[in-house]
Amino acid sequence: MKGVAYCVLFLIAFALNVAAQDSHSYANPSAVRVRHVDLELEVLFDQKILKGTSTLTIERASQTEPLILDTRDLQIEKVETSVNALNYTPATFTVGTSDKILGAPLTIPLPARTTRVRIHYSTSPSASGLQWLTAAQTAGKKDPFMFTQSQAIHARSWIPLQDTPAVRVTYSARIRTPRNLLAVMSAENDARTPRDGDYRFRMRQPIPSYLIALAVGDLRFRSLGPRTGVYAEPQVIDRAARELSDTERMVVATERLYGRYRWGRYDILVLPPSFPFGGMENPRLTFATPTILAGDKSLVSLIAHELAHSWSGNLVTNATWRDFWLNEGFTVYLERRIQEAVYGRSRAEMEAALGLRDLQEELATLEDRDEILHVDLKGRDPDEGFTDVPYEKGALFLLHLEQTFGRARFDRFLQSYFNHFAFQSITTEQFLAYLKQNLLDKHPAMAARVPVDEWINKPGLPASAVRPTSPAFARVEEQAQRWLRGEITATQIPVATWTTQERLHFLKFVQSALEPPSSAGGPADGSATQLSQTERSRLMGELDRALNLTRSGNSEIAFQWLLMSIRNRYEPAYPRLEDFLLSVGRRKFIRPLYQELAKTPEGTERALAIYRRARSTYHPIAVTSIDQDLKWPGQ
Ligand code: BES
Ligand code: ZN
Repeated sequence: MKGVAYCVLFLIAFALNVAAQDSHSYANPSAVRVRHVDLELEVLFDQKILKGTSTLTIERASQTEPLILDTRDLQIEKVETSVNALNYTPATFTVGTSDKILGAPLTIPLPARTTRVRIHYSTSPSASGLQWLTAAQTAGKKDPFMFTQSQAIHARSWIPLQDTPAVRVTYSARIRTPRNLLAVMSAENDARTPRDGDYRFRMRQPIPSYLIALAVGDLRFRSLGPRTGVYAEPQVIDRAARELSDTERMVVATERLYGRYRWGRYDILVLPPSFPFGGMENPRLTFATPTILAGDKSLVSLIAHELAHSWSGNLVTNATWRDFWLNEGFTVYLERRIQEAVYGRSRAEMEAALGLRDLQEELATLEDRDEILHVDLKGRDPDEGFTDVPYEKGALFLLHLEQTFGRARFDRFLQSYFNHFAFQSITTEQFLAYLKQNLLDKHPAMAARVPVDEWINKPGLPASAVRPTSPAFARVEEQAQRWLRGEITATQIPVATWTTQERLHFLKFVQSALEPPSSAGGPADGSATQLSQTERSRLMGELDRALNLTRSGNSEIAFQWLLMSIRNRYEPAYPRLEDFLLSVGRRKFIRPLYQELAKTPEGTERALAIYRRARSTYHPIAVTSIDQDLKWPGQ
């Protein structure tokens, strides 16, 4: 009797989960569900492969259906099944045809009472989720380095599993590496483990596959606080520890807003510069680009962002990539709240204003279907649907709710949302139902002021959206205008007193003033003055001499300046542009620079000449994007 009741409950639980059909996975979790992944992998730098086994613990709602896993470019050697987790017997399996975006399904018929499936496999040297760095690509120049990047659908290129965020697993791993290197994972890491090339990990909380992560290299650890710390190469560790010294304060501030941090430790791994993203919220161990090490903590909002994912994303997870805005929109909103709590209101305002500007510029270029929060990604690579919309439009939606219902009420709502859906993967529909029940229906008069359907399902920004402004930026614009009108020289602009955010705004504002009126944007002051090429070069040179922009050590400033330099054909910055593209792999920086170059025939030639040298040092995810942009042969 108890068995029957249990079975019914089990089926209901499965049925509820079917709701989220993930168009980016072949898996059939409503019939067979993976609960735990146990990895035994050897990291073979010579061959650029991982080799070993993945043992999956499964639960079955159907006794007849096979297990279907996602794979991409995996060499499957052998599959075994077990009913008791002790004795394994060989099993049959088939690998289906490979789709360019999804990879290939691995189908394994299951004998009765199977509880474990073990797959013996190795990865391909060109696995989309792995990057293998030569010693020359590291700070130390002595040892190779490797790291994984599983989001969105790259876990399948290094582990055969149900690669959908709707399925959560616990995991354990034994990783073997060359003796002098250290392996770290998005799991419990022992910072004092002997460096013997044999490392064990456990992740006890259920997480989606895109959060399984591994990195191997010559790494050191430095503690930052009671439950925070940083890993980096020896040459970088001191700089990293100084830059990230506010991390513990950020954790405390976030807990105060949204409830207890549920993952034990929060450590950060600072990767070599080829890391394709700014940051990746791997649980217990954020992966971060070294380009945030500006020397003055000015770019640590990235840490606030990745930390915020410990609530929005890792605790409550988007069930499919259509629901990505649930991860990123919430996270950008939280990020700004953390910035406000730790660095004050002005800093948070500036970052929100910069975000809005970027969003508006991007909206001017996007198709309607990409401006929708609940975006339709069927048949598309989720990596390519990567825009500011889920991030900034998502955050503006939450800001609209906050301002309509009041901060105190909205904070309580968010905290209860995180608790209610903790360790679950949810769809946009589930969020909307929860929002309706717990906020909108309780305050109908206020709810009438938020066009929820328009926010979620329509392109653009609702007319009633809050548009964040920054008083500090208004002052920056005044100075910029005075300089553009020739009332002051560049050396009289009070840049020395400005923060990085004010400098960035200054550069963006000046760029829109220099822009020929025909192109997107036009002069920011509404004037129709068209500047000649000589005039623009002169202004760029004056700025450069006064503000030392070409040599800026701040990656965001350098990026903005280099982008402007291409647009205004400011040739003195070209050598730095080349250096930058050859040394940094962060897609957010390099992709727009190549795209900007590719707008003219001479620029295209320069882009191709640089890309020819740089391509092999970039991550597969960046290469896929830039190959398309530059129509690289073979694409
Ligand atoms: N989870 C994302 C990175 C990501 C998204 C990787 C989609 C693969 C697919 C991460 O939290 C993120 O948003 N990083 C941003 C930085 C952030 C401050 C906006 C980045 O890398 O630029
Ligand atoms: Zn994010």
